[in-house]
Amino acid sequence: MRISIIGTGYVGTVTGACFASLGNDVICVDVDARRVESMNAGVPPIYEEGLEELLKAHAGKNLRATLDYDDAIAHSDISFICVPTPTDEGGKIDLRFVREASRSIGQRLKNKSSYHVVVVKSTVVPQTTQSVATPILEEASGKKAGVDFGVGMNPEFLREGKAVHDFMHPDRIVIGGDDPKAQAVIKSLYKGYKCPILEVDTKTAEMIKYVSNAFLATKISFSNEVGNICKRLGIDTYKVMEGVGLDARISPFFLNSGLGFGGSCFPKDVKALIGKAADVDYEPQLLKTVLLVNDHQPQMLLKLLKIHVPDLKDKRIAVLGLAFKNDTDDIRESRAIPVIGSLLAEGAQVVAYDPMASRHMKKVYPNIEYVKTADEALMDADACIVATEWAEFKKLDSFGNMRRPVVIDGRKMIDPKGKNIIYEGICW
Ligand code: UDX
Repeated sequence: MRISIIGTGYVGTVTGACFASLGNDVICVDVDARRVESMNAGVPPIYEEGLEELLKAHAGKNLRATLDYDDAIAHSDISFICVPTPTDEGGKIDLRFVREASRSIGQRLKNKSSYHVVVVKSTVVPQTTQSVATPILEEASGKKAGVDFGVGMNPEFLREGKAVHDFMHPDRIVIGGDDPKAQAVIKSLYKGYKCPILEVDTKTAEMIKYVSNAFLATKISFSNEVGNICKRLGIDTYKVMEGVGLDARISPFFLNSGLGFGGSCFPKDVKALIGKAADVDYEPQLLKTVLLVNDHQPQMLLKLLKIHVPDLKDKRIAVLGLAFKNDTDDIRESRAIPVIGSLLAEGAQVVAYDPMASRHMKKVYPNIEYVKTADEALMDADACIVATEWAEFKKLDSFGNMRRPVVIDGRKMIDPKGKNIIYEGICW
């Protein structure tokens, strides 16, 4: 099939490259000329495992990028809207880019004689496809959705860093459509897939995406609550959750307690769902608490640190890990941000290390010290904080070079056995 992808962020680029690898003709559109150039040169504008290989194999063949909507819509039969949906200052979803993309596509549908399907892939609050994207498409094209062109909603469930793998091997595919013809076109794109395909209306598809992320975030905050109790009772919460996760109704995943969740999705999507609930006059207590528990975890870590280093003024504190999770350079909503903020507020000297994310954190905290190895960060430190679950931290053994070997572990990365350190796990 001929596909156009609007937006070359991590969802758009991965979706485009993966659809190309499945044998489709793909055109990616972006307003950023550098991204377009980079895609056409076979260089991914973002880092994702396996993406470079796909771009190299397909760029210039059945995958290309353009700044030109006319070109993209004229030469495709289906368009995927993959633009960002950030949170605005009031905590509500900002649909500006979805509106712009819908308008731009709609204007090109005006003179198009063949049937075209427009699919929202961006994460949008329920009813957005039906009540925001569709009316704009209709107005801009002067045509009727469900008759002259089709509209659908096909959420992504891609983890950063594992997005290519997740696209090719999903647990399920959700296809939302308000008319069967559009839904059938979208479904045909996933012909070879073995996983369950769920066909629903667009607002149900939108809700499935939010509830999936909200539920995963809830599992983490729940595990943090349990961990905070376990810590006080001298119980290893990881053993507890291992036992709990063996119940097939619960599953062993996303039960790791620690500093909490960050990233571009969980905090934003839980907030947007709370905001949408408020629009329909409902206050979701559980979801609000999920965010509260998450915001509380960095403070718990600071409290533990102050038990061992009561006065942080001028103390050299090593922060290991700046990315919101391992294997990414993304620091959006990283738990390291509030941790460093609190350390600086107490007058500490922060020395930070991350294998990939330092250059981004420099924009948030330009005046702290950044070093190239974890060993360097530990040198002469009065304490060390582990903020990200990078595998390399498991092998650390240079704690002897610290001024005081105080280790506060926010991710259960350090095994204190035989290390001669003062060790505190945040929840264990
Ligand atoms: C998430 C969803 O997993 C994905 O399906 C969705 O489409 C986008 O959002 P991502 O943000 O890339 O993906 O990261 P993920 O691997 O899910 O981790 C999110 C955060 O939760 C990280 O900060 C991680 O450290 C934290 N986490 C994860 C925990 O604190 N405990 C866990 O058990 C698992």
